[in-house]
Amino acid sequence: MKYETLHGVQIPKIGFGTWRIGGKRSIDPSIEEISFKALQSALDLGYTHFDTAEFYALGYAEELLGKAIKNSKISRESLFITSKVWPDHLHYDNVLKACEGSLNRLKMDYLDLYLIHWPNKLIKLEETFKALNQLVREGKIRHVGVSNFNLKDLKKSKDLCETPLFTNQVSYNLPDNKYVKKGVVDYCKENDILVTAYTPVKFRNLNINKTLKFIAEAHGATSFQIALAWLINQPRVITIPMSFNTQHQKENFDAAEIELTAEEIQTLNTLYKR
Ligand SMILES: NC(=O)c1ccc[n+]([C@@H]2O[C@H](COP(=O)([O-])OP(=O)(O)OC[C@H]3O[C@@H](n4cnc5c(N)ncnc54)[C@H](OP(=O)(O)O)[C@@H]3O)[C@@H](O)[C@H]2O)c1
Repeated sequence: MKYETLHGVQIPKIGFGTWRIGGKRSIDPSIEEISFKALQSALDLGYTHFDTAEFYALGYAEELLGKAIKNSKISRESLFITSKVWPDHLHYDNVLKACEGSLNRLKMDYLDLYLIHWPNKLIKLEETFKALNQLVREGKIRHVGVSNFNLKDLKKSKDLCETPLFTNQVSYNLPDNKYVKKGVVDYCKENDILVTAYTPVKFRNLNINKTLKFIAEAHGATSFQIALAWLINQPRVITIPMSFNTQHQKENFDAAEIELTAEEIQTLNTLYKR
């Protein structure tokens, strides 16, 4: 695995997402078993960064993750756990309550990283950051970040955060360059804020694109792995693919070892009009 080192923390370039673990917008008992197995195999494979949220399956993803970690006997300190507060909960008291809820479900006494899941124009960032800064001082969260933030709100968050703002988690993959166009990706790279790329492999034609296939074959890899390697080749970019499938989980984890040549990166950038 390759790592980013930021503010004294080593964080793996490739972590594991948990959207759909235990359900989507509600609990889905029919996928409880495959969800738990997916978490167990991810832990067995050596993933150490897990990304979850109170929103995922109404907190059930956090509960299953907590159980899988407890079951694995892996020490809490060797893991990096990210969770997120939902935009309806951004008033001061609600942030504190939401964090307590996540910690209880995960059966943990701290989170490594806590993110504002989406901005909420109706609640002032000042109020939300008052609570987030307090949670850091109390040791309940180690780092603060945001998700789906545009440049204006990102800059404001950086100013309001008493500790270095850790990440902006955004949708970012080969064809998706919304946040590049908005100037967010460059701003993060220039200001030591991690870009956590979500939905890194879920895009149209990934599996049939001839150029991607050609580069993949040269590395004895899959097109999915090349999409991940392209992302994490960039400084200050990490990613969090999700898969229920153990083989896919392993391929995603191993993608960190792929070294793309400058020419291959140029070919991909041209192909996706970057
Ligand atoms: N902050 C936010 O607002 C936000 C929004 C969306 C996502 N996220 C986070 O980002 C994580 C990842 O995003 P995502 O789940 O939307 O998309 P993703 O990880 O890009 O794609 C997941 C899909 O790709 C398939 N897949 C994964 N690896 C594969 C491989 N090596 N080969 C073939 N198929 C593969 C999976 O199917 P199989 O299960 O069959 O492998 C699954 O259907 C989420 O789980 C969540 O933690 C955050």
